[in-house]
Amino acid sequence: MQNLSIGIIGAGNMGLALAAGLRAEVAPGRLAASDPHPDKRQKVQEMGLTVHADNDALVADADLLMLAVKPQALRGLCASIAPSVQRRRPLVVSVAAGVRAGDIDRWLGGGMAIVRAMPNTPALINEGVSVLWANDRVTKAERDAATAVLAAVSEVFWVEDEGLMDAATAVSGSGPAYLFLLVEALTAAGVRAGLPRDLCAALAARTAAGAARMVQDKPGEAALLRERVTSPGGTTEQAIKCLLDDGFMEMFTRAIQAACDRSRALGEQLGAA
Ligand SMILES: NC(=O)c1ccc[n+]([C@@H]2O[C@H](COP(=O)([O-])OP(=O)(O)OC[C@H]3O[C@@H](n4cnc5c(N)ncnc54)[C@H](OP(=O)(O)O)[C@@H]3O)[C@@H](O)[C@H]2O)c1
Repeated sequence: MQNLSIGIIGAGNMGLALAAGLRAEVAPGRLAASDPHPDKRQKVQEMGLTVHADNDALVADADLLMLAVKPQALRGLCASIAPSVQRRRPLVVSVAAGVRAGDIDRWLGGGMAIVRAMPNTPALINEGVSVLWANDRVTKAERDAATAVLAAVSEVFWVEDEGLMDAATAVSGSGPAYLFLLVEALTAAGVRAGLPRDLCAALAARTAAGAARMVQDKPGEAALLRERVTSPGGTTEQAIKCLLDDGFMEMFTRAIQAACDRSRALGEQLGAA
């Protein structure tokens, strides 16, 4: 990875998070980013990266090209850089939600090695998780390179079916928002129960962080951890019973399905010729 030239198009939230994580991993001068906004290019420059206003100049030097623009901007971007991408033929890594590799490939002129990655917001603090999928042009060495890039800001998991990217987007891509909502709800409910707002917000946030750490050490054992803190006849049991009786599990199933459907629809809509 040290000797790989990495170019990031789009220096927004995700592009800058990736750039910040990669700075320590990539040799100086081998990490570049482009963005139309002078203020964002300034940030890239302050991070010590090579900065470009012109995407073609960035592509010309990239072994690995990260596409970190909004899904709606991807088609126009791909069309504009297709000639330089065809000349350079880098590994293309797209973090855009929903947009399918076949469409990206078509917009870039065809025959490209493409990895789709779905990171999430905690990548901003190097605590993200990413799900990756590769098309069949991607070599083992290129998979390793894509893993190393995303591992700079997140734990990396691969899936072998592109269709699973929609569900991964629904679970981990959008997931931090569900947990923020839970903290929001816990805070509001605690305030209703009489706690001062600041104290309650701190209790809810710290509880979420502590519980997250515990379950992170035991993936797949969330139910067991919950049962351990749910004494028969106790307070936790009463709250959990309320949530389950009111359809908490079913509500979550519907919510994840809605996000999954939205990701699929976005892919179909943006990929339509
Ligand atoms: N943020 C997350 O937590 C998250 C999580 C998972 C995946 N993602 C994916 O990451 C991608 C980027 O999201 P984001 O939140 O980082 O968006 P963002 O903050 O809007 O950043 C995208 C940047 O790319 C710029 N851009 C647009 N078109 C460009 C072009 N042709 N050439 C160069 N730069 C261009 C944008 O400028 P303008 O503002 O002028 O368009 C903007 O500065 C999305 O596809 C999203 O699905 C994000």
